[in-house]
Amino acid sequence: MADLRVQVGRTTLKNPVIAAPGEHLIEAAGIRSAILAGAGAVVGKSINESQPAKSQLRRAEYVALGPGWSEVPWGPSAPAGTTVLSRSGLPPMDFDAWLAQSVAMDLLARGHDCLYVPSIILAAEEPALDMARRIEAAGLRVLEFNIGTPYASEAAKGAVSTVLSPERVAALTKMMTDALDIPVWIKITGQSERVPDLAASAFASGADSVVMAGRALGMLPDLESQAPLLSTSAGIGGCWNLPLTCHWLANSRAALGAGRDLIGINGATNGADVARMMLAGASAVGMASEVMLRGWQVLSQAVADLDAYCDAKSQSARDLVGRAADARKRFADMPELDERWRDYIPAPLASE
Ligand SMILES: Cc1cc2nc3c(=O)[nH]c(=O)nc-3n(C[C@H](O)[C@H](O)[C@H](O)COP(=O)(O)O)c2cc1C
Repeated sequence: MADLRVQVGRTTLKNPVIAAPGEHLIEAAGIRSAILAGAGAVVGKSINESQPAKSQLRRAEYVALGPGWSEVPWGPSAPAGTTVLSRSGLPPMDFDAWLAQSVAMDLLARGHDCLYVPSIILAAEEPALDMARRIEAAGLRVLEFNIGTPYASEAAKGAVSTVLSPERVAALTKMMTDALDIPVWIKITGQSERVPDLAASAFASGADSVVMAGRALGMLPDLESQAPLLSTSAGIGGCWNLPLTCHWLANSRAALGAGRDLIGINGATNGADVARMMLAGASAVGMASEVMLRGWQVLSQAVADLDAYCDAKSQSARDLVGRAADARKRFADMPELDERWRDYIPAPLASE
């Protein structure tokens, strides 16, 4: 068995596989399942104070898309590489009930050497700060603060936030880190060309880690109805996001140095993908859609596959972090090749 322990800021995880938030982590039964499946950390479904965000869950819809953008059954039989299009919302329970559940889940997680992470999605600042203080006072060990959901432009005004300016990331992070002693992980948007700047701002303001990066919005016209599938734009995710996430991880590592612990998210579907994101610079990796789609064994299998990969390479999980990012070259560093492009074009049509 390889040494899978990793460091995320001040926190050590038994392995780098993080069960990332989605509807499957709203209720205690789901969170318990992710803990029992062996995840290094489990981030519970986020909460905030916004009633429109809560009522959005009752309007939530999900569709699994296979080859040719065709709808495929939801569940473990969905083909590999399934894309998930969804319009999510936040949990209906009030904060006191959510906090009590979080405390119970933290206790359970401690018994399995797992980290339970409560998560707040920004709506308004004061309520977020108040909830964060109560989370710390209740003995929870880390706070994840999501300021980069994909939905802000489509949801009711003020329900959730997509923060795009480094200055605002800095201010929001500082608001939390000034008030709390526990580590704060900031989850940022990927809908920006400034992801490394957003991460730099969060770290400069005291974040222990930055989770990069939130999903994008997409819209898929349905050929039959000629209307958008699910009727709206929606969050879109799938394995095709993995190289984009790896690029942001590598760019952020290049900008910030190796001393900043990043969490990769968006597009990981198995243990090999966890290794890929770590090679790109992540210290740990979140998986959400694939677990919600196929079930808890995605997590246990990812841990087992990562273990086998590290064993085969005689490396620990820590050894993987950033190796591909640090080996990355610039285009101009590459040797000139002998008209390689000719091998990649179709043969010309025969003349009459
Ligand atoms: C249905 C659904 C609900 C989600 N809910 C949350 C949430 O409450 N809080 C949060 O921070 N991220 C949420 N996410 C985002 C995921 O945690 C994750 O960042 C994103 O889906 C990309 O990772 P993936 O490719 O592993 O799914 C949600 C994603 C989906 C698909």
